[in-house]
Amino acid sequence: MAVGGGISAGNGKQYEGRVTPFVVVACLVAATGGLIFGYDIGISGGVTSMDEFLEKFFPAVYAKQKNATGHESQYCKFENHMLTLFTSSLYLAALIASFFASATTRKFGRKISMTIGGVVFLIGAILNGAAINVAMLIIGRILLGVGIGYANQSVPVYLSEMAPPKLRGALNIGFQMATTIGIFAANLVNYGTAQMKENGWRVSLALAAAPALIMTIGAIFLPDTPNSLIERGLKDQAKEMLQKIRGTTNVHDEFSDLVDASAVSQQVRHPWKTILEPKYRPQLVITCLIPLFQQLTGINVIMFYAPVLFKTLGFADDASLMSAVVTGLVNVFATVVSILVVDRFGRRVLFLEGGIQMLACQIGVGVLIASVFGVSGNGTFSKGLGNLALALICIYVAAFAWSWGPLGWLVPSEIHPMEIRSAGQSINVSVNMFFTFVIGQLFLSMLCHMKFGLFFFFGGWVLLMTAFVYFFVPETRNVPIEEMNRVWKVHWFWGKYIPDDAVGLSHKSSDHDA
Ligand code: BGC
Repeated sequence: MAVGGGISAGNGKQYEGRVTPFVVVACLVAATGGLIFGYDIGISGGVTSMDEFLEKFFPAVYAKQKNATGHESQYCKFENHMLTLFTSSLYLAALIASFFASATTRKFGRKISMTIGGVVFLIGAILNGAAINVAMLIIGRILLGVGIGYANQSVPVYLSEMAPPKLRGALNIGFQMATTIGIFAANLVNYGTAQMKENGWRVSLALAAAPALIMTIGAIFLPDTPNSLIERGLKDQAKEMLQKIRGTTNVHDEFSDLVDASAVSQQVRHPWKTILEPKYRPQLVITCLIPLFQQLTGINVIMFYAPVLFKTLGFADDASLMSAVVTGLVNVFATVVSILVVDRFGRRVLFLEGGIQMLACQIGVGVLIASVFGVSGNGTFSKGLGNLALALICIYVAAFAWSWGPLGWLVPSEIHPMEIRSAGQSINVSVNMFFTFVIGQLFLSMLCHMKFGLFFFFGGWVLLMTAFVYFFVPETRNVPIEEMNRVWKVHWFWGKYIPDDAVGLSHKSSDHDA
């Protein structure tokens, strides 16, 4: 793969060891961190489409929506900045929290960050469930955001460090899998609570405490990663842990690479300044662009606002929530595809195929909406066309779910050397959260102003990001995490940034095969 510049598994180093039940269980438990993230993504769209919730907290939107059937454009009936702030405030909080989480994760370990994330999220959920005014709602959401900032900063790194290289993709995608299960659970809860006469929204919001409890209790019992133990000077414990997770006493090679990587890492006092050095340029650029692109696929238009979108398309209240359940289910199952193939066929194939599939669907939905609503926004979808739109949206969600969804978290968590890993992951989380915020905040206005063009807008971005992957994202499948520099070194574009002595952090000349 000349353009991708990947190195094959054969070139990469293979360490001794097998996949132990211990490491699988630890990764499954850690991955539950994705549940809180997912529950949250899935719950707000449904809640903001519930009449009782709107009437209580956003009466203006409620009135506007009820009157929208006349001359008011379908495209604009939900536009309201306070309402979108309810959804998106969380992501601003997560963005800021991820920077604090970086220091915590580096100094005190991955496990502590996960525990903090779970506890703060729990408090947020309680506040939301008990909300009697908009302030309580927003403060609750900010706390949920802090929890997510901590969890998303630490869980992907934890998974990538615990996993043996051969299975790193699959185990890391456990995070995304839990995210999609969280979204789906939230869709189902919304469907159920929307049938309640009163306080359905309250139950929806309060139930966020359930995934938070699962994650917090899980995190308390988790062991820390060998990488993090070494980073904190606990070498003996680290070796024992490595032996335990790899199921062999012969972990000498991997252990000494981890120690070497950590020695380089210890010399770095200011990871934030270090990551700006030219030799980290490939990681920095990719870590900034991948989360940006992930959000510009437009996925959260569906995840946050599916019920609203389907209502806009003329589905009845119930059918709208049901359609969100359907897209949620597709999201879960398609993620499994990714788990099965990511370590076999690699990241690039998924990125490229997923991109093309998403683009085709976006064009289809754009054309469909244009043909029914036109520019004026007046019109009604027939049942058949409504179902066609739903089908296209499902195919689009499936493509995202096996490509940019999981890979958006996997790739940035596996490309950084240890000294900048926490900082790199924080950049990943914060860029992701920032653009999640932007889309969350702007989508309803964008729909109102760009109309069907919105789908072409996201389609254009998908085209661009697919080309970017083709030329600039190398294959990282099967490459040990502390050996990643080899991948950059042989890449047609990034190679020039990597000094010779950075290849094979172990500094053992025998390791140099690039
Ligand atoms: C993204 C979220 C998105 C979710 C959908 C995640 O990878 O970061 O923004 O809502 O996937 O499954």
